[in-house]
Amino acid sequence: MELAVLENEAKAKLDSCHSLDGLEQLRIEYLGRKEGKITHLLRGLGKLPIDARPEAGSQINSLKELITTLFSDKQTAIIANEQNQRLFREKIDVTMTGFIPQVGKRHPITNVLEEIVNIFMGLGFEVEEGPEVEYSHYNFDALNIPQDHPARDMHDTFYISDTVVLRTHTSPVQIRVMQGKNPPLRIIAPGRVYRRDADVSHSPMFHQVEGLLVDEKTTFGELKAVLEAFLVAMFGKDTPVRFRPSFFPFTEPSCEVDIGCVICNRKGCGVCKQTKWLEVLGAGMVDPEVFKGVGYDSEKYIGFAFGLGVERLAMLKYGIDNIRL
Ligand code: PHE
Repeated sequence: MELAVLENEAKAKLDSCHSLDGLEQLRIEYLGRKEGKITHLLRGLGKLPIDARPEAGSQINSLKELITTLFSDKQTAIIANEQNQRLFREKIDVTMTGFIPQVGKRHPITNVLEEIVNIFMGLGFEVEEGPEVEYSHYNFDALNIPQDHPARDMHDTFYISDTVVLRTHTSPVQIRVMQGKNPPLRIIAPGRVYRRDADVSHSPMFHQVEGLLVDEKTTFGELKAVLEAFLVAMFGKDTPVRFRPSFFPFTEPSCEVDIGCVICNRKGCGVCKQTKWLEVLGAGMVDPEVFKGVGYDSEKYIGFAFGLGVERLAMLKYGIDNIRL
């Protein structure tokens, strides 16, 4: 009777036990070597009449075995349960969208600029650079554009002060290079330039690549050959190219070069302003006045110069119809 009560009591306590700590408390309570309830019963056997001992002993022992088994089953169950809970807590959903890292890309202007520079380096030109904040002397006067010359208005200049401007073109680099070196010269000068101008094909800051070649026997035919070689390398053999007479104070004769508008495939669009052509560069033979200004012998030396718009070329190359994009 006492055993049955003990058994039920132990089973009930086991049922409501859910932790290994609690289970250990129960093990001590029932099976502990000193105070355990079953240990206690086994000790009490000696007080029973001798002939009752075997029967009682075997009953207590089977209860002990039963409870031991129940304990170890419970222990297994608790461990399994804790592990399941841990696995659930630590579950990783590998199908979940991760954080997509921002990948940087090179700007089309950077790519096209590099391509232009590489083509001219292949033709033997060396790269020079000049300041973006420039004396108006270099930007204008030394290029044969005096104070009252109408060409100054065309440049829509950003003035820093009376004598300092944001350069409106890369041509001042021509002057700086010629002041520092003697012919023969074969240089390009890539860089940023600034004009107060903004529409689908003009931006207040844009890029030019200046070119300058000075030697003793330079011809307009060579200028044309260099520019055509460049445009073919850049746009392929089938690109329509045309040279138009033009005027720049620092070149004589001067020309402008157009390529067929690839935005509209020469049908007429906003970018080419319905002309089917896009002006990509200005060029000409260096004006002797410019040579005189930098101390070159204008009887001895002949040169050509050109300046091309990088954004225009990038727009044509990538089919972008608005410079602001
Ligand atoms: N500097 C001129 C411009 O910006 C382009 C040019 C450069 C023309 C060199 C002739 C020679 O329009």
